[in-house]
Amino acid sequence: MAQDDLKRAVAAAAMETVEPLLDSKTIVGVGTGSTANFFIDELAAHKHQFDAAVASSEASAERLRGHGISVIDANSAGPIAVYVDGADEVDPSRALIKGGGAALTREKIVAACSDSFICIVDESKLVDCLGEYPLPVEVVPMARSLVARGLAGLGGEPVWREGVVTDNGNLILDVYGLNITDPDGLEKRINNLVGTVCNGIFAANRAGQVLVASAAGITKLD
Ligand code: A5P
Repeated sequence: MAQDDLKRAVAAAAMETVEPLLDSKTIVGVGTGSTANFFIDELAAHKHQFDAAVASSEASAERLRGHGISVIDANSAGPIAVYVDGADEVDPSRALIKGGGAALTREKIVAACSDSFICIVDESKLVDCLGEYPLPVEVVPMARSLVARGLAGLGGEPVWREGVVTDNGNLILDVYGLNITDPDGLEKRINNLVGTVCNGIFAANRAGQVLVASAAGITKLD
C-alpha cells in the first residue's frame, strides 16, 4: 500500500473517532503536514457539524478556509475538544517528535489547549526510542548560536535549517545524534536553554491516543 493511502486511511479513522464529539459548539484543533492535510479533507465533509477550527499553521489555516471551514484564533476559542495531528516519530509511550514542517510551537500550543490529542501516523513513524529523526528546535534568531552550543552540550549535533522562517518569525535547528531515552527530561532541559522557543519533543503533551495505519489496517496505541 502506498504511504499516501495509509495516511488517507488513518485520517479517515481519526474522523470516525472525532465525529461523535461534533456539535454546533465544537472547536476542532487541526495539525500540520501531509497526514493532517488528509484529515482536513475528511473534516470538510463534516463542516456543518461543528463551530470552527483552530489551526497549528498558516498552511493548515489556508487549507481549512479553502474548504469553507471557519478558522479562529486560539485566543478567541473556548476549550478545544480534540486536536488531530501527525508526527515524525512515535515511541511506545506515545511521546513524539514533531516539527518536520517547522510548525512545532503552534502545534504544541494547540495540543495544550485541547481536551484530547489524537496522533495519526503510518507505521513508518513508530520507533523504539525517539531520536533517529533529527529533533527540531525553534529558536529566537539572535540566540541561534547560543542555543546551538547548549544543544551540543546535551550531546546533539545541531544543524541550522537555513532558509526556513517559522510562522512566528523564528529559526529552526535540527538536532542529530540524540538517543532520547528520557523524553520528559530532555524536553524540559532543552526548554531551559535561553533563546529556545519550543522543542519538538511532545512528552508533557504526548498524544492520548495514536492511530497507526499499516497494510493490515488501523491499530491504536493508548
Ligand atoms: C509539522 O511541523 C510536523 O510536526 C508534522 O506533524 C510532522 O512532520 C508529520 O508530517 P507528515 O504527516 O507530513 O509526515
